[in-house]
Amino acid sequence: ELAGTTQLLLSRIRDVPDYPEPGVMFKDITPLLADPEAFAALTEALADLAVRHGATKIVGLEARGFILGAPVALRAGLGFIPVRKAGKLPGATLSQSYDLEYGSAEIEVHAEDLAADDRVLVVDDVLATGGTAEASLRLIRRAGAQVAGVAVLMELGFLGGRGKLETALEGAPLEAL
Ligand code: PRP
Repeated sequence: ELAGTTQLLLSRIRDVPDYPEPGVMFKDITPLLADPEAFAALTEALADLAVRHGATKIVGLEARGFILGAPVALRAGLGFIPVRKAGKLPGATLSQSYDLEYGSAEIEVHAEDLAADDRVLVVDDVLATGGTAEASLRLIRRAGAQVAGVAVLMELGFLGGRGKLETALEGAPLEAL
């Protein structure tokens, strides 16, 4: 039987068929965000993971990882670092490109936001193929920082993201609520 929090979170995720294209079942978290009890429960669960895994910074992945990661950082008393899609950060950045089903994408972080003594927890809403999270782990390691883990609300297990992340995690945990 699912714990109360898990049930609450699941009940606030809406399945939208054929979005953004036919055959895809989109997991919409806006009902969860609109429910303060559920949003608070999610924030607390992710902040607990940050503390348990000894994180010193929270990295959020654009865009929904910003919505979830920022309150988690505040709740855990940690700094929040945005990993953005290419071309959005004004300072000196590290960039990492990664493959999509068709073509490629690129994400960036401000190089000065991560240092050797940082232990970073990556927060996002969904782990799908794992491409975005894997690229973020590469960025964190290239910045010289350590990885505390990856924490997501949902893991779409049938897409194999966990396996894709295994090497880049180097033993750090992948937590899916
Ligand atoms: C979604 C999701 C994750 C990523 C997961 O973001 O929020 O960040 O895709 O996919 P992957 O595991 O296959 O890499 P999206 O790219 O839709 O960006 P958005 O949040 O800015 O809409």
